[in-house]
Amino acid sequence: MSDVKILAIESSCDETAAAVVVNGRDVRSNIISSQIDLHTLYGGVVPEIASRKHIEQINQVIEEALKVAGMTLDDIDAIGVTYGPGLVGALLVGVAEAKAISFAKGIPLVGVHHIEGHISANYIENKELEPPFGCLVVSGGHTHLVRVADYGKYEILGRTRDDAAGEAFDKVARAIGLGYPGGPKIEKVSHEGNPNAIEFPRAKVAGSEYDFSFSGLKSAVLNYINGCNMKGEEIVREDVAASFQQAVIDVLVGNAKKAIDEFGFKKFAIAGGVASNQTLRKAMEDMCMGQGVTFYHPSPILCTDNAAMIGAAAYYEFLAGTRSGSDLNAVPNLKLGER
Ligand code: KG4
Ligand code: ZN
Repeated sequence: MSDVKILAIESSCDETAAAVVVNGRDVRSNIISSQIDLHTLYGGVVPEIASRKHIEQINQVIEEALKVAGMTLDDIDAIGVTYGPGLVGALLVGVAEAKAISFAKGIPLVGVHHIEGHISANYIENKELEPPFGCLVVSGGHTHLVRVADYGKYEILGRTRDDAAGEAFDKVARAIGLGYPGGPKIEKVSHEGNPNAIEFPRAKVAGSEYDFSFSGLKSAVLNYINGCNMKGEEIVREDVAASFQQAVIDVLVGNAKKAIDEFGFKKFAIAGGVASNQTLRKAMEDMCMGQGVTFYHPSPILCTDNAAMIGAAAYYEFLAGTRSGSDLNAVPNLKLGER
């Protein structure tokens, strides 16, 4: 079969991104225009600003992706676009753009699930990785423990009941005055702190052993800070950050280990923005090694929201015959495995 060249578009949150990916794993360009600096002013993503910025950026980002790849739209075999989950106004920009190009140039369109994209980021640098495998997706909006049964076939084993892991990092970072986005900042100061300094809870969800809950941990950190303030005690934020981070990691690694034991995964991957956390990676890698499981993770640039991962996922959907029509719409709460 001849090569399948996919132009991928991602605009679900605060990055406007486009990429050209050949045969799902060969990334010819990966352009990301981040809005983080803009949203930092407000301490988090402002949906209206995100949509407007996507509109301003999307054409340039796509042109750049084609230029870097040395291609034009005439070379493209399919367009992959994130259509959910995410912010509706942000998703709509990418979806409308993809539909317009598809219609104007007669190129097939493939709607992609954002989480399927995060999982598929693992295929890009690990050419030998094939399903089945287990995957932990940890981002600002999601915390999913997934059984990847085959390309495009997912079974959700566990998910967060409240805050996503990245969201907890962002909220705790704000509480200790580190600002947005919190994940990288907590990780940085944690290197100077003691992860055993403060005993924060490792929440278990009664009745569903693979689910997560991070709101109790977040409250415990806030209570600790209030307690210190009331007693006039100094808050060592390096220790708070390191102890919080360790509590999150212990729960993520613990649930992943349980899933590996029960489902007998031989391969385990992590994905999403939080997966660029080096301490989490090391803990996952050590656990996997102890279980005789091969561990996979994408480079940081492929962990954060990007379009190359959407191109990887779109390729396998394209091979499976998935084609979206001009009625493709943004679905803000799209479930994984649902079309
Ligand atoms: O996947 P992503 O870029 O966007 C979503 O789809 O949500 O994830 C962003 C999230 C943010 O909450 C950010 O604080 C977190 O990932 N994050 C991290 C790290 N880098 C980003 N969390 C912990 N450690 C990091 N190094
Ligand atoms: Zn994401």
